[in-house]
Amino acid sequence: MKVSQAHLEAAIDAAFLAQGIHTYYLERGFTQKTKSGPTDLVTQADKESEEAIKDLLLSRFPDHGFLGEEGGGDAGGGVRWVVDPLDGTVNYAHGFPFYGVSIALEVEGRVELGVVLDTARGELFTALRGQGAYLNGRPIRVTERTELLGSLLATGFPYDVARDPENLTYFERALRRGLLVRRPGAAALDLAYVAAGRLDGFWEVKLNPWDVAAGWLLVEEAGGRVTDLEGEAYRLGHRYIVATNGRIHQALLAVLRGTM
Ligand code: IPD
Ligand code: CA
Ligand code: CA
Ligand code: CA
Repeated sequence: MKVSQAHLEAAIDAAFLAQGIHTYYLERGFTQKTKSGPTDLVTQADKESEEAIKDLLLSRFPDHGFLGEEGGGDAGGGVRWVVDPLDGTVNYAHGFPFYGVSIALEVEGRVELGVVLDTARGELFTALRGQGAYLNGRPIRVTERTELLGSLLATGFPYDVARDPENLTYFERALRRGLLVRRPGAAALDLAYVAAGRLDGFWEVKLNPWDVAAGWLLVEEAGGRVTDLEGEAYRLGHRYIVATNGRIHQALLAVLRGTM
C-alpha cells in the first residue's frame, strides 16, 4: 500500500481533534483514574481523544487496524495506526505545558507516516518516509553537534521505575560524565525535539510503540539515527531506544553502556 497525502491529512485532522479535546478538559476540569500505580494516570482527555482519533481515522480508512494506548486495539494486519492520544499525561494533569498527541501509520512493520502535535503550543511535527520532516510545514534537521559533552540530552522513566530501575543506572552514568540531561515527560515530543534540533539526543527504556512510532520516523527523516542500546536498528516494541543527531550516537551508547 502506498501512503498518500490523504493519510497525512487524516492524521493531521485527528491530531487537531485531539488538541480540541485536550484544551476543552484543561479549561473545564476532568476526571482521572490511576492505571498500574498511583502516579500512572489516565484522564477523560486521554480516553476521549483516543476515541475521537480512532473514529476519524477508521471512518476514512475502514480497512486499517488501530493500536492505541487506552483502548488497546486489534492485532492489526498489514496496515495499522499506532496512536498515543495524550503523551505526557502527568504533565497535562498538572498544567505543565509539555504534552501532545502522537499518530503513526505502520505498513508491514515499517512506520511510513508520523505526526506529533504539541497540543499546548500548537506545534505540528510531520514526516512521510523519504520526504523529510517538518515543523509547521517548514523542513527541520537534527543538530550538527559532534561533542557529547555539552550536548543537550533527554530521557524519561517508566511509572514502575522503582521496580524496574534500569534507567537509573544509565541516568547516573550520564550525569557522572557531566552530561546535560533533561526529563521533559513526553517521549513523543522528546523525539520531535531531537528531529527539530532542540535536543541533540534522547534515550529511554521500556517505551511502548505508541510513545515512539511517530517520533522515530521524525528523527530519521530529519537526518538522525535511532537504535537500541547495542547500536542495532530500532524496532517497535524494543525495550531500549536511543535517538540522536547521529554524530554523538556512538559516544552516547558508550556512556550509557558504561564502556566509556
Ligand atoms: C509517558 C511519557 C513519559 C515517559 C513514560 C511514558 P504517557 O507516556 O512519554 O515521558 O517517560 O515512559 O509512559 O503515559 O504520558 O502517555
Ligand atoms: Ca506516552
Ligand atoms: Ca498516553
Ligand atoms: Ca499513559
